[in-house]
Amino acid sequence: SPYLKTKFIGRNYLHFESISSTNDYAKEIAPSAADGTAIVAEEQTSGRGRMGRYWVSNKGQGIWMSIILKPNLSPNEAVKLTQVAAVAVIETIKEIADIRSGIKWPNDIVINSKKVCGILTEMNGEIDRVNFIVIGIGINVNVQNFPEDLCGKATSLSIETGKILDRKPLTASILNNFEKYYRVFLIDGFSSIRNLCKEYSLTLNKDVKVIINNNECIGRAVDIDDDGNLIVVFKNGEKKTIASGDVSVRGL
Ligand code: BTN
Repeated sequence: SPYLKTKFIGRNYLHFESISSTNDYAKEIAPSAADGTAIVAEEQTSGRGRMGRYWVSNKGQGIWMSIILKPNLSPNEAVKLTQVAAVAVIETIKEIADIRSGIKWPNDIVINSKKVCGILTEMNGEIDRVNFIVIGIGINVNVQNFPEDLCGKATSLSIETGKILDRKPLTASILNNFEKYYRVFLIDGFSSIRNLCKEYSLTLNKDVKVIINNNECIGRAVDIDDDGNLIVVFKNGEKKTIASGDVSVRGL
């Protein structure tokens, strides 16, 4: 692709007309795949979202993509890549569709309160070091109609812009932006992208419902710290550091 400006992200590029899930396939081939391999499918027959949810991935209507990474990171560091990817997607949406979107901490990209993109980061490895990481990115690009249960909750770039968008430059731009922030993250750590995460955050300074061990607590999200954790102050004044993955956070 003439649009791809990366050194290694997406340089090995596998494209499928139809696949069960790019994340599943990525995990299968990851042990022998090159660092930065991208897997893109026109359609997923069992696209997966977080918490075992289904991800609607119809033919030609979105970017259904997974990126395989093999850094020297612990799982605790690796989960932060979800937010690195989110920053990349936000900047791509601004660049290509000229729309401002935001991050519902830590991994949903939202436009006008509706979800346009979800990120599913999975990994395999030991407690101190991952073998590989798979970043799954699903962007609703040219979707016109969502199933009933998603109506009012999901949107697409084409619904928001009124235009059908070419997915090739979009895909390349995500890979370009992801490589840029991924390298910054590897060299300088999460703190180097913290300000962007805060700037794009739709969760900060809002009330959130946090579910910790099946208990619902309501508090206010006051900060995202140098490790990418959400700082929440609860009604009783207690301040808690919420790591992504530990809990479910919902806006109110
Ligand atoms: C979520 O918001 O719950 C995460 C959605 C992630 C969807 C993407 S599409 C490409 C990759 N393959 C999958 O099966 N899921 C991710």
